[in-house]
Amino acid sequence: MFDFTNKRIIVTGAASGIGDATARQLLEAGAHVVSLDRNVPTVDVTEHIPVDLSDVESIDSAVAQLNETFDALLNVAGVPGTAPVDTVMAVNVFGMRHLTESLLGQLTPGGSVVVVSSTAGFGWQQRLEAIKELLATDSFDDAAAWFSQNPQAGNAYNFSKECATVYTMTMGVALHDMGLRINAVLPGPVRTPILEDFRKSMGEDNIDGAENLLGRHADPEEIASAILFLASPAARWVNGHPMIVDGGLSGTYLTGLVPLPEI
Ligand SMILES: NC(=O)c1ccc[n+]([C@@H]2O[C@H](COP(=O)([O-])OP(=O)(O)OC[C@H]3O[C@@H](n4cnc5c(N)ncnc54)[C@H](O)[C@@H]3O)[C@@H](O)[C@H]2O)c1
Repeated sequence: MFDFTNKRIIVTGAASGIGDATARQLLEAGAHVVSLDRNVPTVDVTEHIPVDLSDVESIDSAVAQLNETFDALLNVAGVPGTAPVDTVMAVNVFGMRHLTESLLGQLTPGGSVVVVSSTAGFGWQQRLEAIKELLATDSFDDAAAWFSQNPQAGNAYNFSKECATVYTMTMGVALHDMGLRINAVLPGPVRTPILEDFRKSMGEDNIDGAENLLGRHADPEEIASAILFLASPAARWVNGHPMIVDGGLSGTYLTGLVPLPEI
């Protein structure tokens, strides 16, 4: 669908689910794919570098092994709300931000960053001031310290994705100034291994209700193709944008046609 011939792309989370589908589509489109994941991908990527995105030293050591330039960084890795709160925030926000900001200088002109956030972050407007305070911290450790001093109500996963969405929106102009772009993909439920954890942490009724409304959940390939679009030159004027890819669920929830699920 898109031509990525000889483009060099970093994909986090390539060992499973949406990241796996993204790596496969990129390889098919001619890209060189460098995987950053704590697990080894099953797809035959160009290079795999093990990393624990909850650990700043592990991220720094992975970055030190990335000496070339890249055309895109696709932050797909994430953990669900069944993981410890600190891990959820570390992987989904602090590690994602640290990796991104460590690599911006190695992205080629016209290059882009994609963050996989979630429709679960729909409540970002209600917590915008707190999120901006967190994002005003300068480092992984400062962000973790802010979070431990400002614990948030509700599921940490939702807050982590609110932060990921706002991070993307607030970084658009800064990346534009660097000749780059940053966008987010916000999936609804997707048939990947993480979905069973979501049924536990968000409630079976909520996840199954979404399936009943649409007849099915998304396939990872349907999220991957949106990620490739945002990373491609076809999206060259799309920047700082949280792109919902959920089959229409959020439209009905956010306009009140269907009551918002309590996740
Ligand atoms: N599946 C869904 O329903 C859904 C919905 C909305 C958003 N998302 C988001 O999509 C992204 C991908 O999720 P998925 O559905 O493919 O899940 P998945 O569990 O299939 O894949 C997650 C990947 O992230 C990697 N990962 C997790 N913690 C890591 C760490 N500490 N260090 C390095 N790698 C780590 C895992 O090894 C795995 O390869 C996540 O950010 C998730 O929050 C998923």
